Amino acid sequence: MKGREWYQATDVAQEYEQKRFSRGGRLINRREKRAALNALGPVEDRDILEIACGTGRFTVMLAEYDANVVGLDISGPMLQQGRAKAQKAGVADHLDFLRGDAARLPFPDDHFDAVLAMRFFHLADTPASFLSEMRRVTRDQVVFDTFNRFSARSVYNWLLPMGSRLYSRGEVERLLQRTGLELVGEEHDFVLPYGFYRRIPNELASTFRGLGTGVGRAPGGDRLATVSWWNTSIGE
Ligand SMILES: C[S@@+](CC[C@H](N)C(=O)[O-])C[C@H]1O[C@@H](n2cnc3c(N)ncnc32)[C@H](O)[C@@H]1O
Repeated sequence: MKGREWYQATDVAQEYEQKRFSRGGRLINRREKRAALNALGPVEDRDILEIACGTGRFTVMLAEYDANVVGLDISGPMLQQGRAKAQKAGVADHLDFLRGDAARLPFPDDHFDAVLAMRFFHLADTPASFLSEMRRVTRDQVVFDTFNRFSARSVYNWLLPMGSRLYSRGEVERLLQRTGLELVGEEHDFVLPYGFYRRIPNELASTFRGLGTGVGRAPGGDRLATVSWWNTSIGE
């Protein structure tokens, strides 16, 4: 599992959001949150588990939208950031953060309405086993993202400290088939990879974002997207 040790370091956890979601990265944070909400649909009063919740970007947002949410992560320092964020947002009483391994979720079968995993599958060495564990604990829905193999992400992948596991559409479809999940929705975005935006000032980001979005919306543009969000259901 890439990143299992990496995210245990306090300085890595403290710098996690500043490095990724300041400067041009702000728009990424907004877009990812919208993608999660688009896929999950109305979350009020739903029981949602977020695995690999890290600093609680989505956990806190879901609590703010009145979901009953549990955030699970293997890193104590990342969860520490999440707890501070929840306090600051005034939702600390509305959510639970739990230290644990996504490979062995400490919940019975069918315990949640939905399970969310953002920025996790690029770290996973055995994605099918993680996905089937997510499927086991949900009554209804599994939402996750992947970084795409045939995209600009593969060009700068080698610059990343851990690299990333990249997925083709076919691999995602095979994973879903293997774990008995049905694809019910999908979004594809960011022709220019996340790493590009986090290196440029916020003022420039919207110009490049406009260009990237234009290319993405052209016929076949979806295929250039660096990130995909998959909305799946356990079906009947
Ligand atoms: C790239 S961060 C993503 C955090 C958060 N989902 C987000 O999008 O901001 C990856 C997270 O996965 C966590 N992680 C890695 N392996 C894990 C495992 N086996 N079980 C639970 N969490 C894990 C790391 O501790 C880290 O917080």
